[in-house]
Amino acid sequence: MVFKVHQHFGFLLLLVIVFINGECKNSSCDVFHGSWVIDQSYPLYNASVCPFVGKEFDCVKNKRPDQQYLQYRWQPHACSLSRFNGRYLLEKLRGKTIMFVGDSLSKNHWLSLLCMIHSSVPSAHFVVKAYGASGMTAYTFTDYEAKVIYHHSLYLVDIVKEKIGRVMKLDSITNGKLWLGVDYLVFNTWHWWSRRGPTQPFDFIQDGEKIYKDMDRLAAFGKAIDTWGRWVDDNIDPLKSKVFFQGISPTHYNGSNWGEPKAQACIGQKVPVPGSTYPGTPSAALTVLKKELKTIKKPVTLLDITNLSLLRKDGHPSKYGLGKYLSGRDCSHWCLAGVPDTWNILLYNFMFS
Ligand SMILES: *[C@@H]1O[C@H](CO)[C@@H](O)[C@H](O)[C@H]1NC(C)=O
Ligand SMILES: *[C@@H]1O[C@H](CO)[C@@H](O)[C@H](O)[C@H]1NC(C)=O
Ligand SMILES: *[C@@H]1O[C@H](CO)[C@@H](O)[C@H](O)[C@H]1NC(C)=O
Ligand SMILES: *[C@@H]1O[C@H](CO)[C@@H](O)[C@H](O)[C@H]1NC(C)=O
Repeated sequence: MVFKVHQHFGFLLLLVIVFINGECKNSSCDVFHGSWVIDQSYPLYNASVCPFVGKEFDCVKNKRPDQQYLQYRWQPHACSLSRFNGRYLLEKLRGKTIMFVGDSLSKNHWLSLLCMIHSSVPSAHFVVKAYGASGMTAYTFTDYEAKVIYHHSLYLVDIVKEKIGRVMKLDSITNGKLWLGVDYLVFNTWHWWSRRGPTQPFDFIQDGEKIYKDMDRLAAFGKAIDTWGRWVDDNIDPLKSKVFFQGISPTHYNGSNWGEPKAQACIGQKVPVPGSTYPGTPSAALTVLKKELKTIKKPVTLLDITNLSLLRKDGHPSKYGLGKYLSGRDCSHWCLAGVPDTWNILLYNFMFS
């Protein structure tokens, strides 16, 4: 009899596990379609005790007065995401490397992951190493020999100093040598493509043999993604490396896009756009990105975070990002804890599936 009870118990347990697995591995579920719900168990970490969080993202420390924005969890409509487990992640990353490659949105994403790991396993030892000229910073969790790296690369493609000036080469990616053999690669570029004026870090754009003073930036972006896609096809061994593209992280500078034309960018926004649909126009960069990704033969997973992040007009540092970026109105990066934690939960859900 006792045996029977145990058997039943085992059967029930199995059912529960299968159900949980069924939920997280629901391949027919679009995890990018959903809404933001309040969850009292959020935020996933206290940024004040995270040794990794950048000053520019630590909105609580920078005296942002409202706190509700910390408590939103992304809930897909058709299924549930696995909860993040930093210890499990470190075990899976034992002897391995994950690298974020891109602009400061990649840094935002990377620091979020480090804080999430630290909050799960506060005792995990780590060492940091910065590789000066290459623009890489690596944290190694030494008990696991797990490396979590950021490679700062604004455009993914090269910028080369030549006699005429700094030339952006739309068909060259020499930095790709730093990405070879990395187990998990998460790429992103977009925010710098529209940059002009004194902070634009190049003087000319080279496309094939032709050198231009300037060209349509969306078209240039498309060409660079095409070059990157060819790099993936030529260099990635899918048995060794899993490749992700972070998607286009949206900004909130124009309140007309969410029905508040008088809003001063994202300043004072305390709640997300309700529901699942952002009223503004879809991102042209995302359309170009998706078109280019379709031409890549090797597997690349798009973390399609644009729509879910668009809803989070409340998620940016605005005045609480130390004013380092965009003259004190940073509606482009994200507070930590915050929206990039969700990008990492999505990444985590895709990494081992
Ligand atoms: C994002 O929103 C646009 C416009 O509402 C829609 O066409 C698109 O299907 C959405 N994408 C996802 C992944 O939900
Ligand atoms: C975060 O940590 C700081 C420093 O230990 C502490 O003062 C603060 O109360 C914590 N915040 C929350 C929300 O737990
Ligand atoms: C899986 O996704 C489908 C379609 O989105 C949905 O109908 C179904 O209920 C989901 N199953 C689970 C276990 O979440
Ligand atoms: C904001 O968007 C609206 C609608 O697209 C547009 O008419 C307006 O010019 C934009 N405002 C700014 C400051 O760009």
